Amino acid sequence: ELEGAIDKRGFVPLYYQIQQALLEKILSGELREGDLLSSEDELSKQYRVSRMTARQALQGLKDKGYAVSERGRGTFVLKPKLSKSILMLESFTEEIRRKGGKPSSKLLAQKVIPASQELVDQLKLEKQDQSLLHLRRLRLADDLPLAIEETHIPLWRFPGLDQIDFSSSSLYETLRDRYNVGFGWADETVEALSASADQSKLLTIPKRASLLCIYRTLMEQNGTPIEYAVSHYRGDRYRASLRVTLQD
Ligand code: GLP
Repeated sequence: ELEGAIDKRGFVPLYYQIQQALLEKILSGELREGDLLSSEDELSKQYRVSRMTARQALQGLKDKGYAVSERGRGTFVLKPKLSKSILMLESFTEEIRRKGGKPSSKLLAQKVIPASQELVDQLKLEKQDQSLLHLRRLRLADDLPLAIEETHIPLWRFPGLDQIDFSSSSLYETLRDRYNVGFGWADETVEALSASADQSKLLTIPKRASLLCIYRTLMEQNGTPIEYAVSHYRGDRYRASLRVTLQD
């Protein structure tokens, strides 16, 4: 039958073919997080391979973070968290695309506001330039809510930015393409929080579920702050990695 069809005469190792067949089912959603995978025994019968080969296929999935074995119970599907590398200065759109997903947004608010004292400090604003574009978006990856992002951009630096429809445009793409901005670097702070009622509703998670909160101040190449953003990511779908080095 087709289910167990693998190519036994080709050059692709058998364990790898089985591993990829299982992975495809996980990525397509046919197998879901928490589902029990076939045991070594079942796989070896289904594909007519040795138990050793079946074990290797399951081990491959576990090594990649797509499965976990529980003693005496079997091997279960895990959906790995999307992982952000803190060292890479990327937009949400770029990051999700790089990982092979489809980014999108739902616009929650877009308006021009006067800067609060905190934002005046963060964005080093002068008295006469305190008008900001405030953007609040639900960010989705493959149509699943992943983060709530709130950002503030000084309008003195980007006149007309408030006229753009950010339900479909990438903010960073717009800054680069329309305003020719050269990004310099960003300072980020990461904090763990638990979801408020409003946040859990938008992110479709239980109340008080864990959130990863990332604060970003983005600088132009000359050091001028051009964005202050606060993003709340679902803690069950997202993690951040960073490189720690010795100071020179
Ligand atoms: C990241 C940053 C935000 C920034 C956003 C822009 O998520 N943490 O500070 O506002 O990207 O994303 P996009 O260009 O997709 O609109």
